[in-house]
Amino acid sequence: MVKPTEQALNIRLMTKEDVPQVFDIERISFNDSSWSIDAFYHEIEQNEFANYFIMEFNQQVIGYIGMWIVVDQAQITTVAIDNAYRGYGLGQLLLKYAMNYAQTKCEVMSLEVKVENAVARHVYTNLGFQYGGKRKNYYGEGEDALVMWVNLNE
Ligand SMILES: CC(C)(COP(=O)(O)OP(=O)(O)OC[C@H]1O[C@@H](n2cnc3c(N)ncnc32)[C@H](O)[C@@H]1OP(=O)(O)O)[C@@H](O)C(=O)NCCC(=O)NCCS
Repeated sequence: MVKPTEQALNIRLMTKEDVPQVFDIERISFNDSSWSIDAFYHEIEQNEFANYFIMEFNQQVIGYIGMWIVVDQAQITTVAIDNAYRGYGLGQLLLKYAMNYAQTKCEVMSLEVKVENAVARHVYTNLGFQYGGKRKNYYGEGEDALVMWVNLNE
């Protein structure tokens, strides 16, 4: 797959028309623990705290990120890059976009990540996230979550 240049990429708010493409990436990225398609429709149409963005290349959705902004706290709810475009720095680009977006309103951004998700943990650490504790059995079946957070104004 050709690595997309930053100039060829567009990041914008997710619309309901994007949801089927987003859901295709979601299913492949999260397998058994993927959200339902209705969960995405609910988030973008009904959740006043939700802020969802997609990354597009050649008019195709190749990644997405979601966060809740509640007063001065931002929480990443999901992030994924299409399998074919991973390893090109796009996950980090999308997260930086979300961090910049949240920065004017929020002090702190946090997220949960599976202990064994080494790539995601590496990405978050690269962007300054620190470990803030563990949520036991957060994903069920004995899978723990690490809470990570970053101060957006440092
Ligand atoms: C996590 C995810 C969004 C990252 O997107 P991406 O575009 O592939 O990430 P990037 O290319 O920006 O960065 C990948 C980094 O991980 C590193 N990496 C690759 N394989 C790794 C491994 N096995 N262990 C640790 N780090 C690894 C790369 O070297 C790179 O770091 P670098 O920039 O310091 O070299 C993507 O892998 C994905 O969609 N995963 C499935 C969904 C998911 O797990 N989402 C996160 C839920 S918390």
